[in-house]
Amino acid sequence: MGEIAKLELDGKVYEFPVIEGTENEKAIDISSLRSATGYITLDLGYKNTGATKSAITYLDGELGILKYRGYSIEDLASKATFIEVAYLLIYGNLPSQEELDNFTSSITKHTLVHEDMKQFFEAYPSKAHPMGVLASMVCSLSTFYPEALDPNRDSESVDITIHRLLAKLPTLAAWSYKNSIRHPFMYPKNEFDYCKNFMYMMFAMPTEDYKIDPVVTEAMNTLLILHADHEQNCSTSTVRMVGSAQTNLYASISAGISALWGPLHGGANQAVLEMLQKIHEDGGDVDKWILKAKDKNDSFRLMGFGHRVYKNFDPRATIIKKACDDVLQKLNINDPLLAIALKLEKVALEDEYFKARSLYPNVDFYSGIIYRALGIPTEMFTVMFAIGRLPGWIAQWKEMRENGDPIGRPRQIFTGETDRKYVEINKR
Ligand code: CMC
Repeated sequence: MGEIAKLELDGKVYEFPVIEGTENEKAIDISSLRSATGYITLDLGYKNTGATKSAITYLDGELGILKYRGYSIEDLASKATFIEVAYLLIYGNLPSQEELDNFTSSITKHTLVHEDMKQFFEAYPSKAHPMGVLASMVCSLSTFYPEALDPNRDSESVDITIHRLLAKLPTLAAWSYKNSIRHPFMYPKNEFDYCKNFMYMMFAMPTEDYKIDPVVTEAMNTLLILHADHEQNCSTSTVRMVGSAQTNLYASISAGISALWGPLHGGANQAVLEMLQKIHEDGGDVDKWILKAKDKNDSFRLMGFGHRVYKNFDPRATIIKKACDDVLQKLNINDPLLAIALKLEKVALEDEYFKARSLYPNVDFYSGIIYRALGIPTEMFTVMFAIGRLPGWIAQWKEMRENGDPIGRPRQIFTGETDRKYVEINKR
């Protein structure tokens, strides 16, 4: 018999099994809690709640470890391509050459989006935030592929939906940008790899030859790998929650994109850059902004700092900081915002407030500076995160379906009024 947790309630002792993951992390399995005791647990923000068992991503927030399917993020970010990592996350193993060729060719084949979808883009205001456009467009894909509405199809048909999504997201993302500047859409060029094709659709013009520095596509490849999965974060939990109602993959991913948009989650990369810009325009007095971040009466937070699970350092931030230095050096860019970011990081890391709360730079602290160096407009930063996170969302949706997880349905502690009688409006 394994380890047991005991709970004493109203003089009675209840026993619950302790379960252990493959990396020795432990959980008390309370699946029978309500039926045995009548009680539920209350855990705002799910800070202590394991919502599922998963074999995709492991992270240790105390030690700063992140692994996809057992491979360290450091190894993958320095050696793999994003498409290989996507395959690894979704199918569980690194692909053989033949598997990679088939996967790449299937994704390449599906990069075009239906011509009718171009009209949707044209109907959006030019100032529309690209995350709003992207979430709507991804959900709209379900109307063009109605067979995907049934998530219980055979695995081959589910695979086609998966490949379509991976192929079309960069096209939809780049077109949302082209539309915002009212430039003609560039059709995908299938001789280019994933990152180069995206950059081509973003920045090429029909009137000019297109050339790209490989430093740019290499940096994009690294950033996409760093963002590819992060276990049960807000957007991934959203994808799993929506998918648990047997909702199709397009609609589930669209919900994930909406969750990612928030500034406390993926939207932080845009917020970081806007913050750095503001500090720069305000004269660059970093201490003043640190004081604001510490002031409980001020809503300002140091964007790109702090993380729900990483409490010592975010391993992705370490890799990204180095990549940031490399990219700026190779592209010969001297960005004043980098100097502010470095100063802000130094001051915050030495400050008691940030030390006491274990607040460290997260992955988004430096990603915006790299995106800016690559020419990506600020409003597109979170879209870049979404392109990176897509394989993770897909892998988690697929795993949830294959494991037959039940529909997500948390409970609550009711704190509202009880038993009020309706009163006519003229008597209230
Ligand atoms: N600046 C100033 N104070 C902060 C910050 C910050 N960035 N983050 C947390 N705190 C304080 C917070 O006020 C609280 O203080 P106290 O205990 O005195 O009330 C304490 O630290 C704990 O904060 P929390 O909000 O309870 O922590 P959380 O785990 O719920 O939130 C977080 C995590 C990431 C939402 C939060 O740290 C934050 O808002 N950071 C800024 C936004 C950001 O960079 N988000 C990107 C996360 S990484 C990308 C991704 O994967 O989504």
